[in-house]
Amino acid sequence: MLPPRGSEFAGEIDIVFLGIYWLSQVLFWMITIPAVYFAWRFRYKPGRVTPHQTHNTTLEVIWTVIPLLICVGLFFWGLRGYMKFVVAPGDAMEVLVTGKQWLWQFEYPDGSRTVNDLHVEVNKPVKFTMTSEDVLHDFFVPDMRVKHDVVPGRYTQIWFTPTVLGQHTFTCAEYCGKDHSGMKGMLTVDSKEDFDKFMATGGTEWEIYRDSNRWAEWGKIQYERKGCNSCHSVDGSTSKGPSWKGLFGKTETLTNGSTAVVDDAYLQESMMQPSAKVVKGFEPIMPTFQGLLRPHEVKGLQAYIQSLK
Ligand code: CUA
Repeated sequence: MLPPRGSEFAGEIDIVFLGIYWLSQVLFWMITIPAVYFAWRFRYKPGRVTPHQTHNTTLEVIWTVIPLLICVGLFFWGLRGYMKFVVAPGDAMEVLVTGKQWLWQFEYPDGSRTVNDLHVEVNKPVKFTMTSEDVLHDFFVPDMRVKHDVVPGRYTQIWFTPTVLGQHTFTCAEYCGKDHSGMKGMLTVDSKEDFDKFMATGGTEWEIYRDSNRWAEWGKIQYERKGCNSCHSVDGSTSKGPSWKGLFGKTETLTNGSTAVVDDAYLQESMMQPSAKVVKGFEPIMPTFQGLLRPHEVKGLQAYIQSLK
């Protein structure tokens, strides 16, 4: 019924949730079954007169006090978990989360960044300080049992301690426009060694592509992970940015009237300083990928664009 438990307090949250769920089930049937029975038992019959009813103090006290005690109990049960949920431990690693249409950007303590690709260390608390660059989003990691609104102009916080190695999906849980459903990514819970390696190089995955010289394939992965696909098509259709199909080697006219040949240097400059040479007919809306793309990722993207003849 519920997704796998991936964090320290997932079990606690599930118990409260399931407790309330089953209590609701019991109450639902306790009310529905007698209601249906009474409707049948005391149905209309010619000549039957409804007796005059006055109140019954004992019954009324019972059905007021018992639910009151249950509700107060549920409140304190939930409050205990809530207090734990909102206050992160002091030694938690802090990750800055920025939501924007339509990608998730993560910034680690050393300043390195990733898009839609979140890495944390197993059994180490991690705190997320979140904000939005445009509209309301909602950061939701089902396996960790955390979900919180990400609000423009405001910082919100969640935290958890991951306990299960491997991959867990996260998503945006607040409708935020056309590609809301595509605003998702992968949380990888690493062992300490893997996490340290990730922080240094952004993972080891790229070495497979380097060793087999499949740079264009590596670039295609980056195209999706880094969110390039939200503005650049690869089939020649016009989106918010120029299509990548047939782009390499082309001479583009820029907004200032001059021209530029699309080569590796131009591509790299456009990733790091997107507003330096904007192609005519497009708005300078691309964010900088300075600090967001490692050299091997830039190399992959250059090879991928070159492969799109
Ligand atoms: Cu962001 Cu839905």
